[in-house]
Amino acid sequence: MTLIDTPALAPTAELVGGFPFPFPEDRYRYSTNVEPAGEPRATPVGTWGDAIVDIDADYRHELDSRASILATDPSRHAVLPHMVPATWDAMLTLMRELSTSYPETMHLESLGPDTWRWRNDLLGITQEFRYGDAATLPEEPLRYITGQVQEDIALLDQRSDQLFVDAGVVTFAADWSFGFDVGMSFLEIHGPVPRVRQMGVITRAHEFLKRLQPHEPYRRTNWTLTIDRRLDVSTEIYPEWGPDRETIQTVDDAEFGRRVHLRVEVQHLIRLADSGALMFLIRTYMLSLEQLATVEPWRARAAEVLAELPDDMADYKGIIKYRDRAAAWLRAAAPAPTPPPLGLPAWPTSPPEVDVTGASFLVLAIGTDDDAVLAGNIARSWVNTATNAGPTRLLVLDSLTEPDDLGALRQSLAEARTGTRILVAGGQYDVMTALAIARAAGAIAAELAAFVTHTRDLPLYCAHCAGTNRVAGAPGEVVVCPGCGVAVEIHAHHSAALGSFLGSAAEPAASAAAGEDA
Ligand code: HEM
Repeated sequence: MTLIDTPALAPTAELVGGFPFPFPEDRYRYSTNVEPAGEPRATPVGTWGDAIVDIDADYRHELDSRASILATDPSRHAVLPHMVPATWDAMLTLMRELSTSYPETMHLESLGPDTWRWRNDLLGITQEFRYGDAATLPEEPLRYITGQVQEDIALLDQRSDQLFVDAGVVTFAADWSFGFDVGMSFLEIHGPVPRVRQMGVITRAHEFLKRLQPHEPYRRTNWTLTIDRRLDVSTEIYPEWGPDRETIQTVDDAEFGRRVHLRVEVQHLIRLADSGALMFLIRTYMLSLEQLATVEPWRARAAEVLAELPDDMADYKGIIKYRDRAAAWLRAAAPAPTPPPLGLPAWPTSPPEVDVTGASFLVLAIGTDDDAVLAGNIARSWVNTATNAGPTRLLVLDSLTEPDDLGALRQSLAEARTGTRILVAGGQYDVMTALAIARAAGAIAAELAAFVTHTRDLPLYCAHCAGTNRVAGAPGEVVVCPGCGVAVEIHAHHSAALGSFLGSAAEPAASAAAGEDA
């Protein structure tokens, strides 16, 4: 019997942290999406891709699944006779990769010409072998090494200007049959994929792969949806998982989010130096929609991709019956916007768009510290848009605590025409102060837009000295008023017109603490 379900043993945080989220934009189309391997790719919650062979917390678990599948179905493993040298090449290449990426647990030692000692401490294996001598290994080399890596492996032979899938161990195929495809050409294998012929994706990939050189590994990702955390969704056992595509439509939303998974393959393409064969590694990662939704940018993007995916691609991927619901599920999982507590300004979480109906534009970037770079970038991007819509002026200032900078701002506002859109990027003190000065100069709310790069400071109006000053602090905290020296509490109460928060004398205990800090 095949293992039909392989729940992850790794904790969600680990799965999410190493997940190769595959969508660079809100729309997915086939492309010859290859890139050099080995470059770590940062994600909002972690990183992936620094090692070609990836070992994670599910290592043993997935290897057990593979062993069980191979024991049940020998067609998942095939080596055509001319591929035997390539299997040794693949095995030794992978051992080298493992020992380089995991030197604590994986060791490859040369014992002399063609003789090696291999140690895999994770599995407690020590094996001496003579390269090319089958009698020195307990199993056929490809099978031996796929017992120690989570990747599926296919080996392609290159002859008559074509690539042929002539060997492999593939136990975790996503809706295809390795046993059926063995011996086929690269172009034949991709025959069922819609669109790619017209787009030239596969012919370009074929040309690229034929030219691939040793020591220049490449990688790409591919994706689909899988119901439950099943690694093995091969054609061979379709009766075990195919019906889920129907039944998943009737489950409630909670179950739907737990069971539908985004399945991503990281595929490595490596020219083997000795045999000249091409090694194709397929490593499969899965996150349930529920897990995916814990990373907001992933939730939002996956929802868009699924909703927009053309029907022929969704049909080919076998997800047409439930992808709309998956998109809807992800959209519904959007976090409810949390309104700021009453009395606090509601700053946008991303830079607002330029209102291009403006007659002209005044863009302000204010700041001197690290956040000034961000303010500068945002202002530049506003300027790029605004210059196409009308006369645009960019003012870069250090701080509105500086009389010169205040003067420059007032001067620019005095020169601004009616209908000028004013966009401000900077820290909270500078943004609130600039907006208040703009209002005082006659600007209305619809003409103002702002992005706050940090909220470490704010303008504080002191109820005792009636002065407004910049302070480092947040509502609820007690600070010393720079105007009169009284310890004042910053209230969660602000005036957009005045451009300040209210401060008033703090309780004595808090005042004492503020005095000590000051
Ligand atoms: C740059 C290299 C490659 C590109 C651009 C590429 C592209 C694709 C694309 C776009 C699909 C459709 C996937 C989907 O919609 O889910 C696909 C499917 C597939 N690819 Fe590749 N591929 C590449 C390399 C390979 C290699 C080296 C193999 C060798 C085994 C392979 C085997 C397959 C198989 C078996 C399928 C499923 C076909 C079916 O439905 O029967 N691919 N490939």
